[in-house]
Amino acid sequence: MLVTGKAILKHAHENGYAVGAFNVNTMEQVQAIIEAAEETKSPVIIQASQGGLKYAGVEYIAAMVKTAAEKASVPVALHLDHGTDFKQIMLCLRNGFTSVMIDGSHYELEENIKKTKQIVEMAHAVGVSVEAELGKIGGTEDDISVDEKDATFTDPDEAERFVKETEVDYLAIAVGTAHGPYKGEPKIDFDRIKTIKERLDMPLVLHGSSGVPEESIKKAVSLGINKINIDTDIRMAFHRAVKKFISENPDVYDPRKILGPAKEEMKKVIKEKMIMFGSAEKA
Ligand code: G3H
Ligand code: 13P
Ligand code: ZN
Ligand code: NA
Repeated sequence: MLVTGKAILKHAHENGYAVGAFNVNTMEQVQAIIEAAEETKSPVIIQASQGGLKYAGVEYIAAMVKTAAEKASVPVALHLDHGTDFKQIMLCLRNGFTSVMIDGSHYELEENIKKTKQIVEMAHAVGVSVEAELGKIGGTEDDISVDEKDATFTDPDEAERFVKETEVDYLAIAVGTAHGPYKGEPKIDFDRIKTIKERLDMPLVLHGSSGVPEESIKKAVSLGINKINIDTDIRMAFHRAVKKFISENPDVYDPRKILGPAKEEMKKVIKEKMIMFGSAEKA
C-alpha cells in the first residue's frame, strides 16, 4: 500500500532499523524493488531524482510506483529525491508523491531554512512528508581533509536549529559519504551520526550509500540512520547483467530477453540491501 515517508520512517526510527530508498528511472527498476520488498517483507521508499523525472516524466514515474504500491502488501512511499525547484515539488504533490526532498544544502543556513520551511508548509498541508539536507554531501572524488570536514559535514548545533525552525520530518546529514562509486573506502564520521541522533531524536538519512561496506552500513544504522539512499549499486547491477547477456547472446534483440535478467540482478542486490539495513520482516 502507498503510505507517507513519515509513516515508514517513524517506525524505523522507533525500532532502530533503516529503510532502503532506491532510485528509479524505468519500469524494470520499479518491479525489481517491489518484488524485493515483497519477498523480504520490507517497507520501502521508491524515489526519483531530477534526472529520473526528466528522463521518464513525473506522470510515468508516479503511475508506475502507485500501480506497484497498490498491488503490494508492504508499505511503499513515493519520494522526490533532491528536489530543488518549487514548481517541480508542487507538481510532485499534485501527482501523488507521499514524500518530497527539498535540497537547499548549497545555500547559506538562513536561505536553506527559508526554502525548506516554505516546502514543509505546503507539503504538510496536503499530508506529504518532507526531507531536507544540511551540510554538503560529497561528489565521487572527495577525500575530505579535516578543515574541509568541519566546513562541509553537518554541524549538530545548526541541525538542531534547522529542524526546530523548519519542522522537517527527516534530515539528510553529511558524514563522509558521497554520491556515485568510491575510489577507496569512505571514511564515515560515526561520532557525528551518534551526536546528531541524540540531539535531534528523529529519522536521519544517509545519501551516497552505494559502495559503503556492509560493516559501516550496519554501524551507521545502529547509531541512528533510518533511510539509506541507493542508486549507483542498482545501476551497476543493471549494467553487469545487460553486458553479460549481450556478450553471451549477441543476436538476441527482444528487449524482454535483455532486460529480464537485468531486473533479476537488480532485485538480488536490492534484497541483500534490505536484509543489511534491517528492514526485512518489518512490513
Ligand atoms: O542523488 C543522485 C542520484 O544518484 C540521481 O542521479 O540525477 O543521475 O538520476 P541522477
Ligand atoms: P549512490 O549513487 O551513491 O547510491 O547515492 C544515491 C543517493 O544518495 C540518491 O539521493
Ligand atoms: Zn542523494
Ligand atoms: Na556512493
